[in-house]
Formats: sequence, C-alpha cells, structure tokens
Amino acid sequence: MKYAFFDGKPYDKPSFNFYGEQAGIKFKYYDAKLDIDTVNLAKGCDGVCIFVNDTADAAVIDELYSLGIRSIALRCAGFNNVDLRHAEGKVTVFRVPAYSPYAVAEHAMAMILTLIRRTHKAYIRTRDFNFSLNGLTGFDLHGRTVGVIGTGRIGRVFIDICRGFGMRVLAYDKYPAEGVDFEYTTLERLLRESDIVSLHCPLTDDTYHIIDTERIIMMKKGAYIVNTSRGALIDSEALLEGIKSRHIGGACLDVYEEESDIFFEDRSGHIVDDEILARLIFMPNVLITSHQAFLTEDALDAIAATTVKNIVEFHENGKCENEVRRSRSAVV
Ligand code: NAI
Repeated sequence: MKYAFFDGKPYDKPSFNFYGEQAGIKFKYYDAKLDIDTVNLAKGCDGVCIFVNDTADAAVIDELYSLGIRSIALRCAGFNNVDLRHAEGKVTVFRVPAYSPYAVAEHAMAMILTLIRRTHKAYIRTRDFNFSLNGLTGFDLHGRTVGVIGTGRIGRVFIDICRGFGMRVLAYDKYPAEGVDFEYTTLERLLRESDIVSLHCPLTDDTYHIIDTERIIMMKKGAYIVNTSRGALIDSEALLEGIKSRHIGGACLDVYEEESDIFFEDRSGHIVDDEILARLIFMPNVLITSHQAFLTEDALDAIAATTVKNIVEFHENGKCENEVRRSRSAVV
C-alpha cells in the first residue's frame, strides 16, 4: 500500500517509516503542501496523509476522487482544513484525535514562563557576556489567576499544571464537563478577572475570533494571552492594537491566523509581507513559536502509530474508528 505524504518534514520520517514498514505501508514523502497544484503527486497512491496547513477543499477532493483515492489520513487532531461536506460519499477522512495533551499544555506553560521571566532575553545577554538584570523583572505565577477557555484534553492538563504553580483557575467551556474540581464561569468574568488567558478550544464557527477587540477591552489591563490552539481564535489586528495601547501585557502565540504559508518553513532569507506578524514579532512582550507545541518525541510516535492504525483499519474494514464526520464539525 502507498500513501502520498504531503508537507513531510525530516522529523516525521523515523516514526512513520517504523510503523509503516510494520504494516506494509510505504509513505511517499513530498515537501509540498497538498493543494490544487500539487494534488497530482498523489497519482498511483492509495491515499494521502496530510497535516494542518495542507488544503483539502472541494476542488482538491474532486481531483483526489478522480485519481481513485478514497481516503485522507490526517496526522493531526484539527480538521478545519478539510471540506467535510464535500468529502461525504467521496473520500473517508480520519484523524488522530489525541496524541499527547501533555506536549501542548507543557509548551503553553513553557512559553508563559519564558515570556514573564524573560529567559529568552537572558539567554541572549549572557552569551554576549552581558550580565545586567535591567529590564528582566518578571512576576510570580503563584496566586495569580489563569483563565482557561476550553477544558478538553489539553485544557485539563494545562489546568493541572497551573494549579501546581499555585494559581487560581477560572474555566469557560461551551460544553462544561460535570464533576470537575475547578470553577467554571462565564467568558466575560473569566476575561475580566484573569491575569493570563489561555485558549484550548477548537476553531469552529463559534470560536472564530473569540478574542476580538471587544473582548480584549474586557480583559484586565496588563493581562497576558496565550494561544496554542488555532490562529484564527484571535483577531490578530485587534491583538496588535491591544499590545500597542499597552492594554495587553504580553502574548504567547504558537499559532497565527495567516500561518499556513509561513510557519514550519525557513523564511529567514525572505521579506515578510505580513505587516501584522512582523509588528508582533518585534514587540518585546510577544513570544512566537512556529506551531511547535505538538513537537515532542512522544507525540510524534503516537501520531504515527495512530495514523498507521487508522489506514490499516480503513483498508481492512472500509471504515475507521477515528473517522471525522460532518456532524461533528461546525468548522470554518
Ligand atoms: P478537545 O476536543 O479534547 O477539547 C476542546 C474543548 O473545547 C472541549 O471541552 C469543548 O467542549 C471546548 N469547546 C468547543 N467549543 C467551544 C466554544 N465555543 N467555547 C469554549 N469551549 C469550546 O481538544 P484538545 O485535544 O484539548 O485540543 C484543543 C485544541 O488544541 C485543538 O482543537 C487544536 O486546535 C489545538 N491543538 C494545537 C496543537 C499545536 O501543536 N499547537 C496540537 C494539538 C491540538
């Protein structure tokens, strides 16, 4: 069996080769992202394996179908880049619903600690034998309030981590869980009372720009915002304004609204056209990582194992436990 592996990176290969060989699946790795210009690379394959910034819109799905391809194996949890409505009856879409909530939650906390304790700046200073502490003053997390939006797998791990730091937790979820040992509140109260707001909900019609100008104004002056979920949860222009006006104390962003042609790639020799991203990167109180939160050995291993299991299950039974159906998404 052969699967075309789009947007393949060197760190993907060891685990996918390992599990693929065991199951008799050969992955054909392509650097290119899947879109209408590259879809023909999948010719002769039994399916495609794609990631967060590949595009499986209606035109791509039609082309895959005409190539005889009946499956899209997402090697991620999110599926907002697939037109599920159009896929129905043509291709089966399956995903990796969970691989390591710890990887993402721990990265969120790593970003917070870096930004508030300025360790990224201290690292650069001491390499230059500059041992001055001026401008490196941080604040304690202990006793501060963290607002967690989305209390699923990652949100819950993040809450546990924050409680380990002695933080007070306020949570908001459109579908609150029962029997939990943390406090749910309204989104408005969470924004008003939190020193740090961290996003752990999916990108849906409801959550698109869940943090916009109005909600930024609602936030406590000097509050920090953390996004390790999906870029379009935050209106980036509104965030930039919030930072310029000093209302927002800082931002940790592992994802960005317009990341698809920028993140995961080496753009160091290029001129950045995105003015908002360029301004955000230059802000002293903004820390940006390139959709890196998932990137641990443990997560990569789990992603490959589940993706291969999904492919085998689909080809043996014609269906798959981790299939994504339209009814489960109201995804933009
Ligand atoms: P999950 O499905 O376990 O939890 C999501 C939670 O969000 C659920 O409790 C759900 O009820 C809640 N939710 C849904 N709609 C909401 C709304 N309108 N307002 C508030 N809450 C709402 O998902 P999980 O595994 O915790 O992942 C969360 C997100 O993290 C994913 O959707 C994905 O976008 C992102 N992610 C980012 C990664 C990265 O590398 N940066 C890697 C993996 C996931």
